Amino acid sequence: MAPKEVYIGVIGAGGVGKCFLSQLESLSKRYATNASSPKISLVFISRSTKTLYSEKYTALPFENLSTKLANSTQKHLSLTEAIGFLSAAPGKAILVDNTSSQNIADQYPQVLSKGISIVTPNKKAFSGSYKLWQDIFSAAAESGAIVSHESSVGAGLPVISTLNDLVNTGDEVTKIEGVFSGTMSFLFNSFAPLEGSGGKWSAEVMKAKELGYTEPDPRDDLNGLDVARKLTILARLAGLPIESPTSFPVQSLIPKELESVASGDEFLQKLPQFDSQMEETKAAAEKEGKVVRFVGSIDVAKKEVKVGLEKFDRSHPIAALKGSDNIISFYTKRYGANPLIVQGAGAGGEVTAMGVTSGLIHILERLS
Ligand SMILES: NC(=O)c1ccc[n+]([C@@H]2O[C@H](COP(=O)([O-])OP(=O)(O)OC[C@H]3O[C@@H](n4cnc5c(N)ncnc54)[C@H](OP(=O)(O)O)[C@@H]3O)[C@@H](O)[C@H]2O)c1
Repeated sequence: MAPKEVYIGVIGAGGVGKCFLSQLESLSKRYATNASSPKISLVFISRSTKTLYSEKYTALPFENLSTKLANSTQKHLSLTEAIGFLSAAPGKAILVDNTSSQNIADQYPQVLSKGISIVTPNKKAFSGSYKLWQDIFSAAAESGAIVSHESSVGAGLPVISTLNDLVNTGDEVTKIEGVFSGTMSFLFNSFAPLEGSGGKWSAEVMKAKELGYTEPDPRDDLNGLDVARKLTILARLAGLPIESPTSFPVQSLIPKELESVASGDEFLQKLPQFDSQMEETKAAAEKEGKVVRFVGSIDVAKKEVKVGLEKFDRSHPIAALKGSDNIISFYTKRYGANPLIVQGAGAGGEVTAMGVTSGLIHILERLS
């Protein structure tokens, strides 16, 4: 039987958080028209310095929520206080973490041990230490709370659910390979396109930054850590006890000489001096009739995970990727030589929020 009323707390109202709130509003309206659906009540929302909550656990109205949060004069609650507030709700509670905070991620075991389920696109908890990973899932198993983190890899693309379905139905996943970063996808699809010759590496990085595809300091994309975090999550779900995202080879595209320059702007200014390195890589691939792409791969049988540049035949699906799309190929015993492929936008507020909202729906369906 569906629970009568479920209480939702949301942390983070940025690019993804705002889209999620709008999707949550539609969902709650849809549920309200169906007697067998639970009543979902948003009772808590916070940003880094602001909190808005309903002391008596009556639902906060969705109208002008961002403005009301920005103007809230209620005491800003710490995460511990927020956990206390949600665990005292008169029914099941779900915390939606729409931040990229490591500090919040570190406290997931405490949240779950109070019986509060978690939905999040935040990679930090699942790609941090292996101990945190184990603590999260054992806390959930003990309390019966549920964790959903679909959007932590490939945004709203069904990557984690697909891998879980393969594993849980007894297929043998032998290899996972793909382009896991929208930024890297955009950069290489422009730098080494299937048609035309592409621009200079530094010019493509600059263009990607101007179009908003990179982090404020592009080195945070080029160091490969974001991809390494996603690979850590998938490798663990495939059964490999990966210690951390720095415990396997990760190729950084930051020239050694520019690792320690003070700012992202200075980095961009000096990057053209190192264009020849990437030009050589592109030319070497072209000589073999191939293109270069930045990929991550997990060889499950060999227990090998790696992130870096690889050459692909021009007919390979990874070579043919467009724009900033992600592509993830699952090689399994059942699927044989032709992998199961998930492909599409791997970033963006609406699609990422879709993964969060669908995770919330799965939890609502399973909570009893
Ligand atoms: N954007 C994408 O395309 C995408 C794709 C896949 C996954 N994700 C993941 O989705 C998450 C959110 O991304 P985003 O793009 O929405 O980020 P964002 O625009 O920077 O928003 C982050 C929000 O979290 C709040 N916040 C940060 N630290 C907090 C804390 N300690 N306590 C309370 N609130 C805190 C911020 O508060 P203020 O507003 O006060 O600063 C802001 O509202 C991240 O984990 C990201 O990796 C994003």
